[in-house]
Amino acid sequence: MKDLLHLIVSPRAGRSHSRQLSNHFVSQWTTRFPDCRIVTRDLRETILPHVTEPWIAANFTAREERSPAMHDEMRLANQLADELIAADALVISTPIYNFGLPSALAAWLAHIILPGRTVTTGRDDAGEDVYMPLLNAPKPIWVCVTAGALGQEPGGPLFSKNGVEPQLRNAFNFIGLHDLQFFYVAGRRALDAQKSRARDAIDTSIAAFFDQ
Ligand SMILES: Cc1cc2nc3c(=O)[nH]c(=O)nc-3n(C[C@H](O)[C@H](O)[C@H](O)COP(=O)(O)O)c2cc1C
Repeated sequence: MKDLLHLIVSPRAGRSHSRQLSNHFVSQWTTRFPDCRIVTRDLRETILPHVTEPWIAANFTAREERSPAMHDEMRLANQLADELIAADALVISTPIYNFGLPSALAAWLAHIILPGRTVTTGRDDAGEDVYMPLLNAPKPIWVCVTAGALGQEPGGPLFSKNGVEPQLRNAFNFIGLHDLQFFYVAGRRALDAQKSRARDAIDTSIAAFFDQ
């Protein structure tokens, strides 16, 4: 089975370029894997809360010691982590906002990086406390990124201003996921041609994955 979690970040519906790309990804994926299950988490519809002090207290209390109120605090985070853990692969579509992650995507990351679910603590060889990833099964991630300004892709002149790709790599690596591929549509010019190229790159990538 190649069950897919489809995470959509843009608050825009039909006008969202990133959403169009990840929708294309899903249509190609279902052609290749007709029996797969697609779970869609659309952050336009699920407005995720910010991290609060009661949430932090619950998150850092062992499950068996949590009060009923603490279990309530953690319900949504556990549901989002369940979706991630159950998926064989992920596709994410997101804009760049203010050089970095839209707050909705930052909130999703805060919810899924969970002690005991996706990360744990241990000791390194020097006896120091360290975080250790819990998601060690292969789980490829494709990310469709759109931006108003050209050149933010790796190798582009504005890549140093792109906070999305490094932060997503860091966050997913932290929980054990290292296989990330990015597709970009940026700027205001030749959008149709850019989207067509991005769709072709997505098709090639899915075909390569299918042939593995
Ligand atoms: C609040 C906001 C902040 C933005 N910040 C940036 C930015 O820092 N860099 C950039 O290149 N584009 C920026 N943009 C433009 C969006 O990345 C661009 O319009 C993108 O296509 C939006 O994604 P969508 O089409 O999937 O909704 C910003 C747009 C908004 C609404």
